[in-house]
Amino acid sequence: MRIDIITALPSLLHSPLNDSIVKRSQTKGIVQIEVHDLRHFSTNKNKNIDDYAFGGGAGMVMSAEPIARCIEHLKSERRYDEFIYMTPDGETLNQRIANKISTLKNIIILCGHYKGVDERVREKYITREISIGDYVLSGGELAAAVLADAVIRLLPGVLNDETSALTDSFQDDLLAPPVYTRPANFEGQLVPDILLSGNEKAIENWRMEQAAERTKIRRPDLWKRFTSNSEE
Ligand code: ADE
Repeated sequence: MRIDIITALPSLLHSPLNDSIVKRSQTKGIVQIEVHDLRHFSTNKNKNIDDYAFGGGAGMVMSAEPIARCIEHLKSERRYDEFIYMTPDGETLNQRIANKISTLKNIIILCGHYKGVDERVREKYITREISIGDYVLSGGELAAAVLADAVIRLLPGVLNDETSALTDSFQDDLLAPPVYTRPANFEGQLVPDILLSGNEKAIENWRMEQAAERTKIRRPDLWKRFTSNSEE
């Protein structure tokens, strides 16, 4: 998979994309991530990429031209499956969306800033708009990093244990069960006996029950979906 991220602040993306699993997936050649600095696509001498909003009001708007130039440059090199704009007014990211995006070959992610991007960029290029939640960040970079992380960990070969992404919370509309590691006794708090029993079947049942209980209590909305899907 190839992910091209267009941003006014490339340095904000450096750390999240160059550590841990996301870094390893690039080293392994499973994903290629290219970050494009919008200023390189500005043609004015101050390298401006934003301007005042027509009609007035506080806040700058990201200009259409540098974004269009960057996207056209990328489009001339390969075919893209999706042009994603990170914005608080997009559809809220969930596991289903991450799963879908992880099946694509080439995607572009555009990060907004200030008051957002000129609406004409959205009309002309953007095929999907994604929010990571009902709150406003200073820019789309952290949101883009969240999306990239959620997608990349699903790609075959990224996680060592092939089954581990499948047992994540949300993957089947259930939250994950509690987990424990050594010591078995932490200041008087004991690990449930069953996990020490060596009885794999019983452990699997216990985990399933715990996942169900957690989901019922914490996320009745997910539980409802889980039970209606299991009935089908
Ligand atoms: N840009 C600013 N806030 C955002 C959010 N919540 N999700 C995605 N992009 C954003």
